[in-house]
Parts: sequence; C-alpha cells; structure tokens
Amino acid sequence: MSRTHDPAGVTVLRGRVLTFLDEPRGRDDHGSYRYIEDGAVVIGGDGRILMIGPFKPEAAAHHKVIDHRPHLILPGLIDPHIHFPQMQVIASYAANLLEWLNTYTFVEEQRFSDEAHATRIASRFFDELIRHGTTTAAAYCSVHPQSVDAFFSEAASRGMLVVGGKVMMDRNAPEALRDTPQRGYDETKAGIGKWHGKGRALYAITPRFAITSSHEQLEMAEALAREFPDLHIQTHVDENLAEVQFARELYPNLPDYLGIYERYHLLGPKTLLGHCIHLTHRECEVLAETRSVAVWCPTSNLFIGSGLFDHDRLREHGARIAVATDVGGGTSYSMLRTLDEGYKVLQLRAQRLDPLRSFYMMTLGNARAMSLEDRIGSLQAGRDADLVVLDSHATPQMSLRMEAVDLLVNELFLLQTCGDDRAVVETYVMGKPMKSALET
Ligand code: GUN
Ligand code: ZN
Repeated sequence: MSRTHDPAGVTVLRGRVLTFLDEPRGRDDHGSYRYIEDGAVVIGGDGRILMIGPFKPEAAAHHKVIDHRPHLILPGLIDPHIHFPQMQVIASYAANLLEWLNTYTFVEEQRFSDEAHATRIASRFFDELIRHGTTTAAAYCSVHPQSVDAFFSEAASRGMLVVGGKVMMDRNAPEALRDTPQRGYDETKAGIGKWHGKGRALYAITPRFAITSSHEQLEMAEALAREFPDLHIQTHVDENLAEVQFARELYPNLPDYLGIYERYHLLGPKTLLGHCIHLTHRECEVLAETRSVAVWCPTSNLFIGSGLFDHDRLREHGARIAVATDVGGGTSYSMLRTLDEGYKVLQLRAQRLDPLRSFYMMTLGNARAMSLEDRIGSLQAGRDADLVVLDSHATPQMSLRMEAVDLLVNELFLLQTCGDDRAVVETYVMGKPMKSALET
C-alpha cells in the first residue's frame, strides 16, 4: 500500500475485479460479466465509484492504493430477506414453520420492546452482515417501533444502504406482539417519516403475513401502499403447507394465498415475497403479471422443512426471483452458503444453477430484484462503492482444491461450495473498509 497526498481522498483498490453486466444465460456466457485480472476500482472521497479498469502503476503516485491481489473484488453481497430480531433464534429445533414461530420466534421477538436489547442485537446484526460480505439487506424488524429505530440507527452509523420496517401483526400471535390496524398504520407512518430517505435508509411496509394480519390491518397496509407508492412492501407467502391451509381458511373467499395480497393491492414491482414454495399456476401468473419478486430462501426452506423452491417453473412464467438467507429460519448469514444450499435444492429438482448465475444473483440480480440497481450491485462509475473482497484460498482445503482450478467459473463454484465468512477478506461500505475495522 502506498499513501500520497491526495486532497480529493481518492482510493484505488487493486485486485481481480469481477462485476456482472447482465443475467448470465449459462456457464459460458462470458458477455454477461466483466473480469479484469489486474484491475482497479477507483473510489472517490464521496464513497462512489469513479471508474473501474486495468490497474495503472502511476495511480500509486497520486492516490492511496490498497492491493488486494490475488483476491477477487466484487460488488457487496445483497440479502433481500432477513429478520434482525431472530439472531438468537437460529438453530431452534421444530417440526415445522408454525411450531417454530410459536415456540421460539414469537417468544424471542417480545424482547425487542426493550430498546437496549434491540440496539445491542442490531449492532451485532450489522457486524455479522459485514463479516459475511453483505452490504445491503431487506430486513424485518419486530412489531415494536424501538426495534425499527435500533435497526436504522445502527445501519446509519455504518453508512449502510438498508431496507427495513416494523412487522404489522394484529392476530394469531401473543398479545405482546400484536398491534392493531390503527396502531400498525400509525407506527408504520411514523417510521416512514422518521427514517425513509434519511441517509441510505429505505422503509418497507411490512405486513408480516396474512395469518397475523386481519382484514382491517391489510386494508391499512393497502392505504399505506397507496400513500407511499415508492416504498418496498415485504411479506411471506406459500412457505409451508399448513401455513397455506391456515391462510386460505382465514380468507375463504379469495382464490389462493397470493390472492390475499392481490386483493389489498399489495403486489407490484417493489413487493418482496418470501419463500413462494407452494404456488398454484394462477399464483405464478399473478407473480409474473404484477412484477412482484419471489424471494427464495434455501437454507430456511431446508431447515424448517418447508419445501424445494421451483426455480425453473417461476422462470418459465417470467417471474422475478431473488435469493436470501431468511435468518433466523435460515441457518447462515453467508450468501455463499445460501447459494450453495440453493444449488443442492435445484440438484434435487434436476434443475441447474451455474456459478455465474449464483454470483449474478448475490449481486446485480438481487439489486435488480430490489429496484436498487442504479445504486448498488455492480462496479461502475457512479455506483456506491459497496464491495466485497473474496479469497478463494481461505482454508487449507480450498487452497489445495484451487491448485486444480483452471477457470474463473470453477473458482466461483469453489467459493460458493466451500466458502463462508472466512473467504471474506474485506467488506467496503461507501468505500470504507469495515470488516478489518471490526477485528481490530
Ligand atoms: N412467516 C411469517 N413470519 C415468518 C418468519 O419470521 N420466518 C419465516 N421463515 N416465515 C415466516
Ligand atoms: Zn422470513
């Protein structure tokens, strides 16, 4: 590393730069990405990318250069579905979703009425994301506004672009976790006013799922969506068979589970729908027509035993797909681990998930699914400098395996199959190194 006087505060990261340009059509779609073997990401003092290109040795004469060779520099990883109050729920033993929710999750989330607890966990949450190379997440907070304040305050202190919102839930949950239609509306509206658009914070209208929201509450969510049409909406759908049956019993006059959200005009291009495992043909069509996003959560679906996501069926319908951890139903904060499990799920379905597509999904694909691709998800001039640096030799066995790796796609596949937080050398948020700062 060299350091020279540079009033503009420009930093140059040197390494093997990889960024996607578009969705890869297969393992050999070399036009879908840009790879620069000895590359540079030039970051301005404002934390935005000025340019990327081949590294020029003369850069060192003018700017601070951080040499990450031989590691890969990619856009920061994006997790579009995660529950921050569930950090201490991971690894809870249950037979199915509703048992898991009632026995552990709805008990744990009650602790987030305590602002000090919410702040402690939110701080640990963002540290964990950074440790795993995740720079943006769409998160569910608890029902308590205190949890929303803790979430956005801790994100802001790290400069992170995050999406989040208080879960609206007014039935089929312990009293301490229930709001009312009016309170859910008022607290959501107050949260939007307090946080949305402040720095990099984005508020998401968050009716937890149809089972925990009454008709009146979904009407309130609809009113909020009408008042704030630019906001994300996040919820769950078609995760588990007993859950689907319960939701349909609660709304017997509607055609299916997704039809509930359709009825309240909650579907659209900024709607993130967790799981989408047990969809009917009509639901697939509605997903595609409304441009809503199916958020696949492989580690969670395996751990809770919910089912195997049908990736190709949704693609054939033209639906938009994202991929996420769903911690604490999900078992890892790592998007590498998540895509590894996703690969195995699709193996069981005789569907292919090539490594280019996996890495596209973790970065530009998820950015597009969240309608954030003009800010994050790729390395190009004008984008926020949220980056991750990955080491394909992170463990002795990976290093040994790398001796026999010839192609970039095979290196990516190794990172996905064997990598985790140990493979994350550094995480940059708006050009600032964050992971190394945690460890010192
Ligand atoms: N459905 C409603 N709430 C939840 C949750 O917290 N986790 C999962 N996996 N599914 C849900
Ligand atoms: Zn979830």
